[in-house]
Amino acid sequence: AFAEEDYAIEKPLVASTGLRQGLTSYGDAHFSLFLRKVFIKALGYSEDALSRPIIGIINTYSSFNPCHANVPQLIEAAKRGVQLNGGLAIDFPTISIHESFSYPTSMFLRNLMSMDTEEMIKAQPVDACIMIGGCDKTVPAQIMGGISANKPILPLVTGPMMPGSHKGKRIGACTDCRNNWASFRAGNLDVEDIASLNEELAPTAGTCGVMGTASTMACITAALGLMPLRGASAPAVSSARLRIAEETGANAVAAAGANRSPQSILTKESFYNAIIVLQAIGGSTNAVVHLMAIVNRHPKLCGSGDITLQTFDDIGRKVPLLIDLKPSGDNYMTDFHNAGGMLALLHTLRPLLHLSAMTLSGITLGEVLDQTPFRPFPYSQEIIRPLSNPLYPASSLVVLRGNLAPGGAIIKASASKDRRLLCHTGPAVVFKNSADLALRIDDPDLNVTKDSVLVLQAIGPIGNPGMPEAGMIPLPRKLAAAGVTDMLRVSDGRMSGTAGGTIVLHVSPEAIVPTSVLGIVRDGDIITCDAETRVLNLDVDQREIDERLAERALSSEQARRTDDIQAKRGYAGLYQRSVNQAQEGADFDFLTAAGPKGR
Ligand code: FES
Ligand code: MG
Repeated sequence: AFAEEDYAIEKPLVASTGLRQGLTSYGDAHFSLFLRKVFIKALGYSEDALSRPIIGIINTYSSFNPCHANVPQLIEAAKRGVQLNGGLAIDFPTISIHESFSYPTSMFLRNLMSMDTEEMIKAQPVDACIMIGGCDKTVPAQIMGGISANKPILPLVTGPMMPGSHKGKRIGACTDCRNNWASFRAGNLDVEDIASLNEELAPTAGTCGVMGTASTMACITAALGLMPLRGASAPAVSSARLRIAEETGANAVAAAGANRSPQSILTKESFYNAIIVLQAIGGSTNAVVHLMAIVNRHPKLCGSGDITLQTFDDIGRKVPLLIDLKPSGDNYMTDFHNAGGMLALLHTLRPLLHLSAMTLSGITLGEVLDQTPFRPFPYSQEIIRPLSNPLYPASSLVVLRGNLAPGGAIIKASASKDRRLLCHTGPAVVFKNSADLALRIDDPDLNVTKDSVLVLQAIGPIGNPGMPEAGMIPLPRKLAAAGVTDMLRVSDGRMSGTAGGTIVLHVSPEAIVPTSVLGIVRDGDIITCDAETRVLNLDVDQREIDERLAERALSSEQARRTDDIQAKRGYAGLYQRSVNQAQEGADFDFLTAAGPKGR
């Protein structure tokens, strides 16, 4: 027999606020909710479960993504955290992007992933969302999408991999992939060595084990106040990583209850803190692009002028490099974690930080640090240096400007291998694009010396859609074999966060843009780069530059390229027509908070 209240009209409508979101589809909200409950009950959820805050968990597992191999365990641990704290955890997929399995580049897919993330968070009835990811483009894509969706978001990174070992020496992806490959090219490693290195460079699940883009973005996410501080560095395969996942589950229920949305938490001070950390860790140049994309998703910051490329340089002048990790230093993420990780680093940086910045836990960064004191002893102060004994005095990342880069360019000065090149003038050796580079770089007849400046054109956001990490132009084989280990290199592309050398990147406007001076550089032109005075110049008469630009504007090749882009179908067409320049974040103009103005 049924009790009378079982037939009450309100009874089928008991549901959490999450389940009640967006109930407009049939013009009858009650019916919509009724249907929603019909279908979700097919999964076996009870009335009790459905009356709780719903915490979405984004699953970015893929068998093509070793950086995310631990996602299933993290989901389980995060669910435990949610459910121990009275929420209902529901996981759902978005696309998964790995650096090596994302033709043409993972950056090409970052904006797509941000759209997937944003729309799925908006579409589904979640009160808060845990975003599990880790590989380079994933964390920025998720934060970009999460800010735009503006429900409470909790990034949970997969964590760094462990280092491997070769002939008694520790090695790790991917700085050592590049160093060893360069040695192999120079003839200093044989085939057996390079094959056995191949087995050990990525020996466990997790993200690259140095201060590459993935680790940089993890540290930045913690500095923004979106993640527990230990969450940035606990190894992917550690039990600590699982406990952080459980803690994130608990935090998600609290953030849902207080409706702590990213647009309300993140202020310009949060981003100043992120940039301070970026400079102090000698982080990836890619993080500059990602942070600008994230900033420009925030309605209060986009177009405000509060955070621009210049902000990175201004902050850099006051912040020393404190972390001795590859590629700027010598060690691995596990060493950083064991030395105290972000907790130790933020305590060290405390005098420079904006302590009033809010965090996802509902207290300020200063309060977080007060509640979690850090005593340096017995931790290594070799890995996380005190302010009095930095690894590099200031400005790990430098912003350059000049007639060659009116929109700016980036150089990671701290990762230069031959510091004399940070102030250098030399003749250009120009490659039209990556194919041209591949064809000619090892030509024994190439007219190049160690003082030449290698210039690679057309690898910017539009020119080679996705702005490939081809900016670390390999040294010509004949020079490498003669013992040259570094040269000044200039391009409109990116380089891997794990790479090093004296390499100018993100030159803006990129070469394919008709007004780009990078696009009209010719062999033998003199280029000056001075990281001290922040200059990147083409030492060619302005009249000559103007003539070359005018000639180029008239060329049929330029016209054909523009037509090609207009005509291109699918995502590639959308990408090339909509992507903005590196200093704006290489985001789609229509995804920024300002929208597609001027198009
Ligand atoms: Fe995924 Fe390096 S390839 S973090
Ligand atoms: Mg990378």
